[in-house]
Amino acid sequence: MKIGLLCSIVRKEEKLLIEELRKKKLDFEILDDRELIFRLNSKHMNFDVVLERCVNHSRALYALKVLNDWGMKTVNTYNVADVCGNKFLTTNALIKCGVPCPKTFLAFTPESALAAIEELGYPVVLKPAVGSWGRLLSKINDREAAEAVLEHKEVLGSYHHSIFYIQEYVPKAGRDIRSFVVGDETICAIYRYSSHWITNTARGGKAENCPVTDELNRLSLAAAEAVGRGVVAIDVFESKNGLQVNEVNYTMEFRNSIDTTGVNIPAKIIDYVLKVGAYPGAYAELR
Ligand SMILES: Nc1ncnc2c1ncn2[C@@H]1O[C@H](COP(=O)(O)OP(=O)(O)O)[C@@H](O)[C@H]1O
Ligand SMILES: [Mg+2]
Repeated sequence: MKIGLLCSIVRKEEKLLIEELRKKKLDFEILDDRELIFRLNSKHMNFDVVLERCVNHSRALYALKVLNDWGMKTVNTYNVADVCGNKFLTTNALIKCGVPCPKTFLAFTPESALAAIEELGYPVVLKPAVGSWGRLLSKINDREAAEAVLEHKEVLGSYHHSIFYIQEYVPKAGRDIRSFVVGDETICAIYRYSSHWITNTARGGKAENCPVTDELNRLSLAAAEAVGRGVVAIDVFESKNGLQVNEVNYTMEFRNSIDTTGVNIPAKIIDYVLKVGAYPGAYAELR
C-alpha cells in the first residue's frame, strides 16, 4: 500500500505520525504543500490513501478536492474538511443531525447582528466562521461592547468578518472537554482547564485525562457522524442541560493528549489510514 502524507511544516504531530509510519515499515511519501504542483488535467499521483496534515485550511481543502476528484482516498475527505473548517457549516450539520449544541445565530450586517445579539441575550460569543486556536473570538457582555466589536469588524475586517456567527455563551466551571474520534471509536478525551474562558491548549489551557463516559462516547460519535466521519477532535461543553458540542476539528493537534490519556493517538490514526487504504468500496461507508 502506498501512503501519501500531505503536510507543510512538520510539527510535533507530523513527526509522531512519521515515526509511526516508519515503525510499521509502511511505504509512504511526504507531500509538502509548499512545493506541490497539481497539474489538474492529468492525474499524476497515485496513492492508495493520503493522510492530510496541512496547517493551512485552504491548502488542505483545495488539495483534498483534487485528490478526491482524482478518485483517491484521503483522511479526512474534502467534505469533512469543508464542514469542520467552517463553524457555520459544522453547527448546521450538528443541528441537522440532532446533536446538542449551543444556540447559534447567523447575520450579515452589523445592524442585524446587533439585533441577533440582543435577542440571544448577553453574554454572547462572536467567532469568525473560519478560524482556530481561539483567534479573534469575542465574548461580548453588553450592548456597548457589541456596538464596538461590530463597528471594528465592519471597518477593519475582511469580507468574512461580515458573516456574523453569534453564539450563546455557555458558562463553564473552569474547563471543557475535547474528545478524539477515529473511525467509529472515541479513542480518548481530555479536560482543558483554564482560568480564561478560552480554554485552547494552544492558548495555555492545561490538559488532564477525561474518562470517556457513555454519554461522551455517544455524543462524540454522533458529532463525527454529522460531519462525515474520519479522524476528528470534538470540543464539548458541560452545560447545565448536559453535554453540548461546540465544534468539530479536523487535522487536529494532539501533542498534549498522548501522555495525558495514555492513548497512542498517532498509532490509532495510522491504523485507521491503513483501514481506509485497504477498503475496497466507496469509503464514505467505512465505519
Ligand atoms: N459559546 C461559547 N461559550 C463558552 N466558551 C466558548 C464558546 N465558544 C468558544 N468558547 C471557548 O473558546 C474556545 C475556542 O472556541 P472554538 O469555537 O473552539 O474556536 P477555535 O476554532 O478557535 O478553537 C473553546 O474551546 C471554548 O473554551
Ligand atoms: Mg476549538
